[in-house]
Amino acid sequence: MVGNNGAIKLVAGNSNPGLAEAIAAYLKMPLARAVVRRFADMEIFVEILDNVRGTDVFVIQSTSYPANDHLMELLIIIDALRRASARRITAVLPYFGYARQDRKPGPRTPISAKLVANMITYAGANRVLTVDLHAGQIQGFFDIPTDNLYASPVMVRDIRERFDLSNIMVVSPDVGGVVRARALAKRINAPLAIIDKRRERAGESEVMNVIGDVDTRLCILVDDIIDSGGTLVNAADALLEQGAQAVYAYISHGVLSGGAVARVTASHLKELVITDSIQPTEAVRVADNIRVLSIATLLGEAIARTASEQSVSTLFD
Ligand code: R5P
Repeated sequence: MVGNNGAIKLVAGNSNPGLAEAIAAYLKMPLARAVVRRFADMEIFVEILDNVRGTDVFVIQSTSYPANDHLMELLIIIDALRRASARRITAVLPYFGYARQDRKPGPRTPISAKLVANMITYAGANRVLTVDLHAGQIQGFFDIPTDNLYASPVMVRDIRERFDLSNIMVVSPDVGGVVRARALAKRINAPLAIIDKRRERAGESEVMNVIGDVDTRLCILVDDIIDSGGTLVNAADALLEQGAQAVYAYISHGVLSGGAVARVTASHLKELVITDSIQPTEAVRVADNIRVLSIATLLGEAIARTASEQSVSTLFD
């Protein structure tokens, strides 16, 4: 008798079907048949139609907009798989929402990133695979093995293809993002500048000080998230005021809430490059100065290596 031990299954939630299909194509396997739908009151119902007993299952789901619905879908899919006797369940979170709530910003506030990590673990995930966590130490919020992949190899390939590297200055749009920006700068052997945002007094607007000489440089802003777009649009203006020749941005997760796409389109950013960790909306797809790079190959390869117990970190050597 042949068992399922070692067989891989891919299950996709509704957050990012395009990316899930692309990962499945890379791995040359179909997505498992599953029904994820809503009852009239919007409760989520999940039914996995393929046998998953004894299999190594990867659930692909970003907790992107609408964040709570997609999170709940993920939890319920994991629960269904656990009760269907999957051997191992890996939550593949191309974008881990709630990550920015990783500390108490004031008294009587939650640490929601930890709560969400607990929920995913408690639902029955055995491992987590995610991309460019807002802060690396969030890995420690999960009490199960967690691999934090980097989109930087995909970005670096694109930067090398498009730009003359000799005049590039990589820029971190805030002090908190320096480690991430420095890592990318190192890969392309470029110098690093930092924007230091300060609000001298409550109620006064923020002053943006550019640390580093960006005059005549082609600046590349690097960050994990673009949400409202405010950080990047203001950073682009500050860099141009300091004489930058042009400003581009490479951002892992295009959250792009509210009027962010319009804000970017109307900004002085020459181009915003994001990944497909979050499914691009129609507005993103038609925007003149926004381009999407796929991380499907990166995630597909990480899944293949996880399944065959090979090193994932060597993907970034
Ligand atoms: C903040 O720490 C993050 O790294 C991003 O800089 C931030 O989330 C961007 O937000 P927004 O686009 O709304 O300025």
